[in-house]
Amino acid sequence: MINEITDILTKIFNKEGYNIIPKITKSEIEGVDFQCNDLFKLAKENHTSPIEIGEKLEQKINEISDFSNYFKKVTFSKPGFLNITVSDNLICKYLKALNNDEKLGIKESHQTIVLDYGGPNIAKPLHVGHLRTAIIGQALNNLLKFEGNKTISDVHLGDIGLQMGQVIYGILEDFKGQKLENINFDLNYLNVTYPKISSLCKEDEKVKEKCEQITKELQEGNEDYKILWKKICEVSITDIKRIYKYLSVDFDLWYGESDAYKYFDELTEYLNNQNILKRDEGALVIDVKEENDKIEMPPFIYQKSNGAYLYSSSDLATIYQRQKDYKPDEIIYIADSRQALHFTEVFRAAKKAHIFEGKLKHVGYGTVNGKDNKPFKTRSGGAFKLDDLIKEVEETFVSLREENKNMDKEDLDKIVNSIIKFADLQNDLERNYIFDIQKFSEVNGKTGPYILYTYLRINKLLSESHNLSNHIYNEKDKNLRMKILEVTNALNNSLNELKPHYIANYLYELSVSANDFYETNHLNNISGEEKEDYLYILNLTNRVIKTLLNILGIYLPKKM
Ligand code: ARG
Repeated sequence: MINEITDILTKIFNKEGYNIIPKITKSEIEGVDFQCNDLFKLAKENHTSPIEIGEKLEQKINEISDFSNYFKKVTFSKPGFLNITVSDNLICKYLKALNNDEKLGIKESHQTIVLDYGGPNIAKPLHVGHLRTAIIGQALNNLLKFEGNKTISDVHLGDIGLQMGQVIYGILEDFKGQKLENINFDLNYLNVTYPKISSLCKEDEKVKEKCEQITKELQEGNEDYKILWKKICEVSITDIKRIYKYLSVDFDLWYGESDAYKYFDELTEYLNNQNILKRDEGALVIDVKEENDKIEMPPFIYQKSNGAYLYSSSDLATIYQRQKDYKPDEIIYIADSRQALHFTEVFRAAKKAHIFEGKLKHVGYGTVNGKDNKPFKTRSGGAFKLDDLIKEVEETFVSLREENKNMDKEDLDKIVNSIIKFADLQNDLERNYIFDIQKFSEVNGKTGPYILYTYLRINKLLSESHNLSNHIYNEKDKNLRMKILEVTNALNNSLNELKPHYIANYLYELSVSANDFYETNHLNNISGEEKEDYLYILNLTNRVIKTLLNILGIYLPKKM
């Protein structure tokens, strides 16, 4: 709608000798939909006053022959604004178009995009940090698919780092003398062993060296270590899959860093042909410094002097593999902002070596904090395991109301998901945010349950409606209609910046408008065309809510 109004006004402005495309913005003034603030600029350029220009333009706009198709009222307002109220016709025309558009007004895109948003490390329990990658990544995946792209999601497990050497060391100590094939352990064992050996490494240099040695030999394919490694992966991945399933987070590929290792020989040969690897204190590196760098940019380490590969090299080899397998237009990594330097280095190395010509993007996010604004901790002060967080949210929600106690388990899971996801996704993802479990579990406020409740409440009233007249009945009705039309903008903003919070915030605003409408317009008091119109608007409202919730990975319970 803004585009169409801008076009009309541009024609009038140009005809009067003002060669600009006027900027039309949403107005906060009651009864006014849009405004144009360009009159000051024009007055300055034309050495006259905004009043003179404004009054003239007001008159010219009001004189166009099809004025009422577009406008209800256009007035000049001192000191220099054009206030625009659009016609009911125009609003209804756009609502009908939106209603017929599966894509809610956005333009389709058909790119191939790889998304990398898992990154849990095998043998360590999932913690709150992993939650953000998963939630944000899945939302972006859903959004890019909605736009029409072919996406390929990869969990990119951390399955071959030092933690593997540490856990294998621990197992060899604990199960001394047993045949490797017969050794058995469960998740609890892993959850204890990793932190135990990890802190032992900090105290005892010998243990640390041994763990590094095991890691390196494992990377080189040592068959004995591989037997234990496979078992560790099995136990750990089963649990990782369980939690992702609970969160409706899924991946097309369950590759790990280790899967990149089979490409190293090929990649090394390729890099040598490119003449890009240098020796630096024994290590093989790629120089990635650029002239305008404001921060220190150490060389990208491809291979350590002892022959071992690192986190960074496995990311480079993975890009090599993704290019070979999928030739994507873009690869998007969703990972903690603190990894920004790592990704800058990897991306530069990939570009410099001409491994990948498409777009490479790191979407970085901040930390989840507790009420004290420090990284989220359990009541007793430990790092929050994801399982414990989910449990605590569930308990909090259940304790809020008597009815919640007898809730269907499937519905309860969906609500808990909505609490956690909506709390996260409403924030600009680069910022840290405070997760106040109590606040985000309430049905009132800017919360997941509030949006779910809005949908369910409206849904109870709904029956089909196929026609929309050109009438708008009252202010709340108009507010809701105007808010519905903003959906395209919210989607486009999220797509352009790869930030889901535009959608989440819009969903909240839409829900507020919908509840306002619901409370002032009573369906049982009306009939005929008016009723048909209301049902049409409410059907569209709920379709928008549901579509956007699903993009955010939030699903509707049957009742709450
Ligand atoms: N496993 C990594 C970590 O826990 C995150 C992986 C992110 N993805 C990537 N391709 N590097 O820090």
